[in-house]
Amino acid sequence: MSRILIIFQFIAVCFAEQDPHEISHHLAIPTEKRLSTISFGSCNHQKARQTLWETISKNAPDLFIWLGDNVYADTDDSVTMHKAYVTQKMKPSYAKFISQTPVVGIWDDHDYGKNDGGKEWHFKKESKGLLLDFLDVPESAEVRQREGAYQSYTFGTEKKKVKIILLDCRYFRDPIDHKKPSGDILGSAQWEWLEKEVSSPDISLYIIGSGIQVLPVDHRFEKWNNFPQARERLLKTLPSNSILISGDRHIGEISQVEVDEKTLTEVTSSGLTHAYRKLKKEENRYRKGSFVNQNNFGLILINWDEKKATLQIKGQENKALEEVIVHF
Ligand SMILES: [Fe+2]
Repeated sequence: MSRILIIFQFIAVCFAEQDPHEISHHLAIPTEKRLSTISFGSCNHQKARQTLWETISKNAPDLFIWLGDNVYADTDDSVTMHKAYVTQKMKPSYAKFISQTPVVGIWDDHDYGKNDGGKEWHFKKESKGLLLDFLDVPESAEVRQREGAYQSYTFGTEKKKVKIILLDCRYFRDPIDHKKPSGDILGSAQWEWLEKEVSSPDISLYIIGSGIQVLPVDHRFEKWNNFPQARERLLKTLPSNSILISGDRHIGEISQVEVDEKTLTEVTSSGLTHAYRKLKKEENRYRKGSFVNQNNFGLILINWDEKKATLQIKGQENKALEEVIVHF
């Protein structure tokens, strides 16, 4: 081989390794794995500095769950939305993170494409496809064959199974009408699906993901309580061994409600790249501790021997800023 050819091949290999246009992919979901550490977060601007991925990695999570506003797309243009996801996947810190940590996820409004959007959104089918493409959900997955982006994943074996249920609070949601408490969020097919999903007898712990908050009722922003009958139905439907996780709010907080002789706990973690720093006070009658107004992520640490889960909200320094322990 000529020296020129060898030099040419060497240069080609160097460029291949440092190809700035290379897009990384998410790992296959290891459902056989017993989950001990689950991380989650939301509200992540694809163009912002993303400093939390390395901190999340320090916890060696078995999984990361996106809870919406995974990118800020706000568009009904496929090319623009696709670009937002490509920008996210090409972030070196995120690319490194997903080479080590499996990821699943659901959307909220800004990646759905329309601020506070619901079932009326004309771009929802295209936007759903782009979300699933971003997450590298296989073409054969059930979610690809039906309307909406709701999904479930069961991890572990025998008596150590965790089921992650990701609710789609956008695709079927009625318009907000405060005079009409019967408005729905999930739509009949998703309710039917959920009722089946939560009746598996062999699940130790359910983790229920919702873009918008489920338990808090006092603030004026998007929340399940803007559809009070749907919220009540959800609280009745969920088994006592459920932990709720949510995003959207650009703050972090842990809420707890007693309902029908069960205690339901919700960890809200938002945002990964921008928090509502100016917020100094907000009423939440169900809050445990205080709220976090710095960039944050959530963590669920499962102690299988003691059948307990430590729920945390952590910031840049990897310190638990809020923490609650629940037993299951
Ligand atoms: Fe957001």
